[in-house]
Amino acid sequence: MTATTTDIERAAGLLRAGGLVGLPTETVYGLGANAEDPAAVTKIFEVKGRPPSHPLIVHIAAADQLDDWVEEVPRAARVLADHFWPGPLTLVLRRGRRVPLEATGGLETVAVRVPDHPVALALLSAFGGGVTAPSANRFGSVSPTTADDVRAELGDGVDFVLDGGPCEVGVESTIVDVTGETPAILRPGGVTREDLEAVLGRPVDVPSTSGVRVPGQHPSHYAPRARVVLVEPENVVAEAELAQEEGHRVGVFLPPSLVGAEVKAHAVVTVPGSPAAYAQGLYGFLRELDQQGCDLIVASLPVEAGLGLAIANRLRRAAGPRLPV
Ligand code: TXA
Ligand code: MG
Repeated sequence: MTATTTDIERAAGLLRAGGLVGLPTETVYGLGANAEDPAAVTKIFEVKGRPPSHPLIVHIAAADQLDDWVEEVPRAARVLADHFWPGPLTLVLRRGRRVPLEATGGLETVAVRVPDHPVALALLSAFGGGVTAPSANRFGSVSPTTADDVRAELGDGVDFVLDGGPCEVGVESTIVDVTGETPAILRPGGVTREDLEAVLGRPVDVPSTSGVRVPGQHPSHYAPRARVVLVEPENVVAEAELAQEEGHRVGVFLPPSLVGAEVKAHAVVTVPGSPAAYAQGLYGFLRELDQQGCDLIVASLPVEAGLGLAIANRLRRAAGPRLPV
């Protein structure tokens, strides 16, 4: 059920008291704390099991509050904020004095965004300050896109979860570093590279598909329990059947080009043809195959343009080398 005004007030009170609140955004659910309360911010890292060097995003209620949180706002940042906020875009700027180093992992820059979700915006207005919120999942695992996912991930670690229904975008915000000469995408997400370039009227830098660009961007991230194997679309069926014969419980992401194909596997998800629907469903599909007991997921990458860039980035990371448990 969608959060009521009473729920919002309760959540705002918990934030003021140093508590942690699960909140819906248009991208994924966040685990929120008062951005200006170092003890509450530190609690986020404990509950997520996230290393303290991994910076968080500060969520604010409106673009006109940006100057309160950062040292300076370059022109490109102002243009992007005016155009895309509220929305799935995070800007990395020079840290304002209000932001404790606990929130930035010790960095002199800070990531800021205005989420496009009525419940998140109502909470930010009722609370009045900034809310640091990483995705509300355990470190390295699949981001939550429903209130139930948050409870399943974090249990008692979160004081209260605001329910805002399933997230519409389904993958995290696009993170753009606007501190340098050329804006650089640090993480592809809900706002596409093409949209950024159209609004700025010039090219932006894009991430390499491998390597660790920024803190908190380990190769293995967004990962289900099942191991993820990426193959060419035309090899998905053969690869899945081979692994199934070898005794794996195989989950398949059947690409749109193979809709209706017969595949012998433990569980099959047919990937939506529309990138927006794929992004929206992606984390739910991964969770579903985990829940069905799959130990191996065979998938292929979508075309890396538009939202496909973010989807491919998450699939690559889900398939990335895992640290020993
Ligand atoms: O859509 C989203 O962005 C969601 C919702 C809840 O807003 N939040 C989210 O937060 O994805 P999180 O903590 O899971 O990912 C934040 C990313 C991290 O990978 C971190 O490296 C990057 O933001 N980040 C934060 N501050 C940064 C900074 N100062 N410089 C570079 N990267 C930064
Ligand atoms: Mg995350």
